[in-house]
Amino acid sequence: MFCIDIERTPRSRLNETDFSSLEFGAVYSDHMLVADYMEGQWQKPVITPFRHISMSPATSVLHYGQAVFEGMKAFKAENGDILIFRPDMHFKRMNASCRRLCMPEITHDLFLEGLTELIKLDKDWIPSEHGCSLYIRPFMYASDEFIGVKPSKTYKFIIFTSPVSGYYKGTVKVIVETEYVRAAEGGIGFAKTGGNYAASLLPAKLAYEKGYHQLLWTDSKEHKYFEESGTMNLMFIINDTIITPPLSSSILAGVTRDSIITLAKDMGINVEERKISVDEIHEALERGILQDAFGTGTAATITHISAINIKGKEYQLPEVSRRKISNQLNQTLVDIKLGNIPDKYAWNYRIKV
Ligand code: COI
Repeated sequence: MFCIDIERTPRSRLNETDFSSLEFGAVYSDHMLVADYMEGQWQKPVITPFRHISMSPATSVLHYGQAVFEGMKAFKAENGDILIFRPDMHFKRMNASCRRLCMPEITHDLFLEGLTELIKLDKDWIPSEHGCSLYIRPFMYASDEFIGVKPSKTYKFIIFTSPVSGYYKGTVKVIVETEYVRAAEGGIGFAKTGGNYAASLLPAKLAYEKGYHQLLWTDSKEHKYFEESGTMNLMFIINDTIITPPLSSSILAGVTRDSIITLAKDMGINVEERKISVDEIHEALERGILQDAFGTGTAATITHISAINIKGKEYQLPEVSRRKISNQLNQTLVDIKLGNIPDKYAWNYRIKV
């Protein structure tokens, strides 16, 4: 437990923000939390107005990408309390990313108390509009002014927040990627680090030029098995069974993925975490037995796939209104996040206001 110095903004931007037309990631709340790591430990954090950070052109992260981040969401419950969805799982995942990127781990106090103070201060930025939330972006980067290749000795940890709507507007059309790879086994694919997203930009741009919103990544060795989709984990439904690729060193351990699997099993729905080949889905599409395909992610929540281009042919998937299983799972997840139904898994972290 530590006390955090707060420098309040002299001029809130809240009244200038149009909450009725939010996009993902375009507007930031008034404050941010900042903590420095030096001499082997985290220093006392401060909350300041959301502002630019200045750094030397020789700052390590700019050259070698030693940086990790998380994405969480906060919601406003009916009684005004603040509900943050599964911060402990995000905390653990952030530290798993830190270990892989050779960065110091965040302490639980710094992460959770820092988050609590920041969200309490900017609570009026949590949107109550349908489908909207306050997106929370904790991140850490190597801050040494040094351009030799080695782990930095100093780091900065920052949390800022952003009122958002859904990441995707509606359904997405996807194409199976069999040339480029997002991540290889033994690499950094499971870590939430910028390099994975940088690697996805060119293939995603090429897919966009062909008329697709996103890619379905396949494995790096044979392009035979599905991995994940851009910014989301991937789920298929055949014979009322949810099938999703198993976690590995090249797949991000999604918090929404885990939540959907837990809810589905609890509802008596069969879930198989196993390798899924491109051939298997191709055959299911040919036979018309692919009931559903969707992505899961914090930013994307559940995003339905409307069409898949596989082996050069585009297949349409069933109307979203007919996809009973994923619609029901989505609704249950939303209800838990908003505190509308009992939170029997204790996923919400509640801040009383
Ligand atoms: C999230 O779902 O929180 C993500 O981090 C995806 C993102 C890169 C927008």
